[in-house]
Amino acid sequence: MTRGPIILFEGLDRTGKSTQTESLVDALRRVGIGAELFRFPNRETGLGKMINAYLTGGSLNDETAHLLFSANRWECKDALVASSEAGNAVVIDRYIFSGVAYSAAKGLEREWCVSPDLGLPSPDIVIFFKFKDTAKATERGQYGEERYEKVEFQKLVRHEFEKFEEESSGSWNVVYVDDKPIAEVAEEVWQIVGSVCEKGIEDEIRPFQW
Ligand code: TMP
Ligand code: MG
Repeated sequence: MTRGPIILFEGLDRTGKSTQTESLVDALRRVGIGAELFRFPNRETGLGKMINAYLTGGSLNDETAHLLFSANRWECKDALVASSEAGNAVVIDRYIFSGVAYSAAKGLEREWCVSPDLGLPSPDIVIFFKFKDTAKATERGQYGEERYEKVEFQKLVRHEFEKFEEESSGSWNVVYVDDKPIAEVAEEVWQIVGSVCEKGIEDEIRPFQW
């Protein structure tokens, strides 16, 4: 059975993930390829509403916040798997690596952070959006409104993301987004995913391991 690829976009706040994931889904549909967008946190669910309250000023201890973000992924697992198996390209805006990177940047142990996400559906393709200069994010719209949008903290998160990038031994696709027009980033993304989306994936979905 051929299924749709699971394509994950990761990166710091304000790197353009939401813009690009939405535009990729539109572009795929325009050429007749089924596509569905999942974004995490999914703020629509009951757990997602708790996460939203936390991100916009509420208080939770770091472990509880971490487990909520993970549970929010688990509650969407069946829908995500079904979508891929129905042949859709599943486009994900943040996932496991954001979960670990933000919590580890706060000082939680990395291995502890990964453990609740073990077994979630693995992405087939990871695209990592990066600024050469982390401070660039501050020039982008609405920066600083939410909990983690502080340059010093973002540097710590970046370092955590880069550990995963190194561990991927080159399989992560890095896209630098500094000062690039939206269309240029979209074209780079298309070069990475276009043909895989046309062909689909033969292998079964793998459970995430680390
Ligand atoms: P968003 O800006 O992509 O909606 O994400 C909201 C914030 O939540 C962002 O700063 C990253 C953070 N986050 C976590 O801390 N853990 C997670 O598991 C996820 C998915 C996001
Ligand atoms: Mg954000």
